[in-house]
Amino acid sequence: MDKGRAKWLLPTLALTTALAAAPLVAEINVDGVIKYRQNVMKALGGHIGAADRLVRGQVPLMDQLELHAKAARDIAHTIPTLFPAESIPPEAEFNGATVSTDALKSIADKPQAFKQAAQDAIDATDAFLKAVQAGDKQELPAAFKRVGEACKGCHKDFRKDQE
Ligand code: HEC
Repeated sequence: MDKGRAKWLLPTLALTTALAAAPLVAEINVDGVIKYRQNVMKALGGHIGAADRLVRGQVPLMDQLELHAKAARDIAHTIPTLFPAESIPPEAEFNGATVSTDALKSIADKPQAFKQAAQDAIDATDAFLKAVQAGDKQELPAAFKRVGEACKGCHKDFRKDQE
């Protein structure tokens, strides 16, 4: 090996070793991730709450229902990405979280059930959007109810009880 290459090789090796030792420190901003998902969930709640008033026929703005159904569908599809292990208690605290989260440890303990709960919300919001786009007034209340049940189904098992 010529001298020029050897000069680069050592510092590169040292850097690689340092990086390999790093994962003990969280690689995400835990507070940021928790706040982000809470805001995303709030947005989801906002669209579902608005859709609820339209589905009940209380507001003469039915042409806006598709907007809320689409947003809810798009947001529901992001749920599986919002709960990295580092941001779930007690890992979150180990990783220096200073903001509180209502996410439960059960998310990490029962990953399959959690994944299914997220999939239920994806399927329910997909079906709701389809019913809205088809202008299917018969189907609408039932499809919307299924969305609400999917939200509750996950919150019941994976979110701290709300007073
Ligand atoms: C797969 C699980 C899951 C599904 C499905 C789900 N949520 Fe959540 N949601 C959570 C968890 C966990 C939290 C607590 C997040 C935290 O505090 O870090 C939460 C928090 C919330 C919050 C409170 C946000 C805040 O901190 O202000 C609202 C509002 C909300 N969800 C609405 C909904 C609605 C509406 C739906 C259905 C369309 C839904 N969620 C579907 C798991 C879920």
